[in-house]
Parts: sequence; structure tokens; C-alpha cells
Amino acid sequence: MSAAREPNRVVIFDTTLRDGEQSPGASMNLDEKIRIAQVLEAMGVDVIEAGFPIASQGDFEAVNQIARIVVESTVCGLARATKGDIERAAEALKPARRRRIHTFISTSPLHMKYKLRMKPDAVHEKVIESVAFARRFTDDVEWSCEDGTRSDHDFLCRCIESAIKAGAGTINIPDTVGYTIPEEYAALIRMLFARVPNIDKAVISTHCHNDLGLAVANSLAAIRAGARQVECTVNGLGERAGNAAMEEVVMALKTRHDQMPYVVNVKTEHIMRASRLVSAITGFVVQPNKAIVGANAFAHESGIHQDGMLKHAGTYEIMTPESVGLTRSKIVLGKHSGRHAFREKLAELGYGLGDNALTDAFKRFKDLADAKKEVFDEDIIALVDDEIAHAGERIRLVELEILCGTKHRPTAELALEIDGTLKGCKAEGDGPVDSAFKAIHELFPHSARLLLYQVHAVTAGTDAQAEVTVRLEENGRSVNGQGADTDTMVASVKAYINALNKLLVKREKSAPAAMSA
Ligand code: KIV
Ligand code: ZN
Repeated sequence: MSAAREPNRVVIFDTTLRDGEQSPGASMNLDEKIRIAQVLEAMGVDVIEAGFPIASQGDFEAVNQIARIVVESTVCGLARATKGDIERAAEALKPARRRRIHTFISTSPLHMKYKLRMKPDAVHEKVIESVAFARRFTDDVEWSCEDGTRSDHDFLCRCIESAIKAGAGTINIPDTVGYTIPEEYAALIRMLFARVPNIDKAVISTHCHNDLGLAVANSLAAIRAGARQVECTVNGLGERAGNAAMEEVVMALKTRHDQMPYVVNVKTEHIMRASRLVSAITGFVVQPNKAIVGANAFAHESGIHQDGMLKHAGTYEIMTPESVGLTRSKIVLGKHSGRHAFREKLAELGYGLGDNALTDAFKRFKDLADAKKEVFDEDIIALVDDEIAHAGERIRLVELEILCGTKHRPTAELALEIDGTLKGCKAEGDGPVDSAFKAIHELFPHSARLLLYQVHAVTAGTDAQAEVTVRLEENGRSVNGQGADTDTMVASVKAYINALNKLLVKREKSAPAAMSA
């Protein structure tokens, strides 16, 4: 029996790279998408929706590359109900060991009348045509009724029955606008089980948006009503208020197994790593009180709680920090640690670096261990992610010196290597960051606008590494740059030039305008 057909097995379908990327400002480049896909695969996610191949050349390449690299998870591409979309998805997914085409069309009266301008009968025909066409390319076809929760029940049942007959193995019921509530959504799923005659031939899936803050509650209600796939994203990333947060769905199922006896394949110890990576890449900060992955999710501030925790962790903790991959910031390595120990640590953290990359990362680790008394797992993750993010850049930071404080007008002296040529200058600004960014502008004139500048401390303490995100926008295209260093100004300059490098790549490719589902 396949995993999806074991009665209590819930398939985790991650759409961080597709629906998540549709959040304004959350665009990711190819390397970043691959890194996230690899983390999702290592985590045990069953299906990775890697993109919407017809939307842009960038989306096509991302799905295609992820299809080549990922072996354990099914790789999925989204397609509207047209031959062109489906062919493009099939083409992108060709190299995948396990591939799924996910095709969708709206079924609500509102969407059919105003968005599609189609009569219900014509939509129904499209359902059959699109699913049957997608089945020519793969046995694994998912069909979604967009705006399913606001659709007429009779029409929904008719479309679902036809989609299953045409070969869809998964039927997704999206709450596209985040409108439903748990009891109503559960009743809808139960109604489908009662009325669609061939429903036992498909896996029913949930796809909930969070406009009313109910995406996770709705997803769990649907599972209890018989759904066996959850579509979700890391950190709840997604359009508007986002999608159901994967870490919340998974930890709710694990922690309340007594009430919800369902099984997921996700190795929960990878959750923090995935959360931090998605946050660093997109520049979407995780709010401190966010469930599971927020900085305060396992912090106990009040005296009464601390006292209880010292007596028994179960007094105020319903799950352990270790179960989601929080290592309680234990010291892992120091300046006397050797290359072998460093390599072992990287493997433990899920990195498999080649020899050259390992040598570079090890050198930076030694520098970090000199600058910082204690090196934590989080430091090593930030360091290696920074190393990966900056590999092969056309603009590189060579030297930076900043003069600031109460006595001086802030001045940055900067040297950059641009396409192999060393350039230097001095610039004044309204503060140290402003002076450094002005110096970059002088050495590399550009018209990009700064949309976001954000600093995050990787660990506690004044010697913590700063992780900086910079979002730049040029001609309607936005990119996020990252930089990490114990010196906040160095991290800031690295983040800015990382964003510029990404814009350069975008300019070279000058992809057609992106499209959203
Ligand atoms: O929210 C939605 O309806 C979607 C579909 C494309 C599945 O994202
Ligand atoms: Zn969606």
C-alpha cells in the first residue's frame, strides 16, 4: 500500500516555493530555491511544489533543476487548465524521479463569472480535459477547485467525480481566500465523502489560506474529517496573510497524537533549520511569539514559570525545543577545533560541502572563533549559508572601514572587486549604514531602490553575529540580499552587494514578467 493510502498517513505537501513565493517581496533565485528544496527533502516532506513553470523562465528552471536534484520527495509543478500550462509543467518535471502535475481551475460562481467568464458546464469540460491531458505525462495528477470553499456543493461534487474519473489521484479543496471556519470546512469534506461516489479512489487534500488566522485550525479539522494531504508552507509564508504553517500543522499532529492519531513523515528536528533558511532568504522575519519557530516559543520569562520548569519541564512545555531542532544554543566548537570536527558538525547540521567549499568555510570558522568566544550551531549555520550565498559573485567586498560616533560625520572607506577590478572610494552619510551604502553606490552606480534593511542577531550576546537582509527593487523586480558577520556594518555591506549581484543575474536573464496563480 502506498504511503498516501495508509489509513492514518497524512501527506505533507509543501508549497513554500510556489504559493509561498507569491508573497510580495518573497522572490527567491534558483540557488535559493534549490537550497530550500534540499532542506525540505531532508526533512521528509512528501511533495515539494517547486513552482509554476509557465509563469516565467525562472520558475521553469527552478522546477526543472529541483526535479533533477530531489530524489526522495515527489516534485510537483502547477498548471492552469490549459494544454500550454500542462505541457510546460510536464517538460519542467521530466527529470524527476517522482513527478506530479497539479492543475487547477476555479469552481465558485464568483470566480467562474468574473475571473474566468465561463459557464459552469464549460468549466466542467475543462476539468475533464485538463486532468486527462495531464495524465498523458504522469500517473500522479492533482486537481484543485480554486475557491473551493465558496463553490456550490452540487457543482463541486460533479467536478470532483469527473476529475477522479479522468485520472486525478489527489483532489485538493482550497480555501483560496481564507474564508472558511473549522466546522464548516470539516462539514464540506465530510459532504464530499458522502456524496462523491468514487471518492475512495483519491486522496483528499486541504489548502488553507490564513486571512482569518484559521489556516492551521481549518487544515486540522479537514484531516479529522478524512483529508489525508495538507498543503502548507514553512513559516506560513504565502499570499496575503499566508498559507497554513507546516511546522504548526506537523507539531500539532505530533503533540496531540492522542486526539489526532495521524502519522506524518516529517523529521521535526529539521523544522528550525527550514524556518531560518526561509526567513533569511526571503527577508520575512519570524515574529518572536510565532508558534513553534518564534524566538520566544520556548522562552520562559516569568519567575513562576521558570520555577516550574526547573522542577519539571513538562509544567510549561508541551513539546521539547530539541524536537523542533533547537539545540538550546549549546557551544559546539571553539578555536581549537580541527577541520575534522568542523566537517562532522556540518554533516550533523545537514550540510555536505565539497573540499573547496569546506576549506573556505573552515577558514571563516577559524576567523569567527577568534572574534567570538563561543561558537554555536546557529553561528555555523549563518556562516555556511553566508558562504553559499556569496559564492561566485561579480561584486565582492574587499575592505571596509567606517568612522562614526558623536565626534565625526559618518564616513565609509570601501574597496570592492567588481568583475575582477579593484575599486575604492570614501563616502559620507547620515549614519554608518547610509555612508557605506553611498560608497557602494559610488563604486557601482545603479538605480535600484532600497525597500528593506533588516538586522537580526543570530545568537544572544553582544558578540553575536549579525544577519542582515537588504531588499532592492529595480524596474519592478525585487531581490533579497543576505550577509552575516560579527561586525554589523560588514554584514550590511555584504547583504547590499549580495542583492546587487542578484539584480545583475536578473538583468542578464531579463526573464518575462512573473505570473501568479
Ligand atoms: O489558493 C489556491 O487556490 C491555490 C491553488 C492554485 C491551489 O493556490
Ligand atoms: Zn493558495
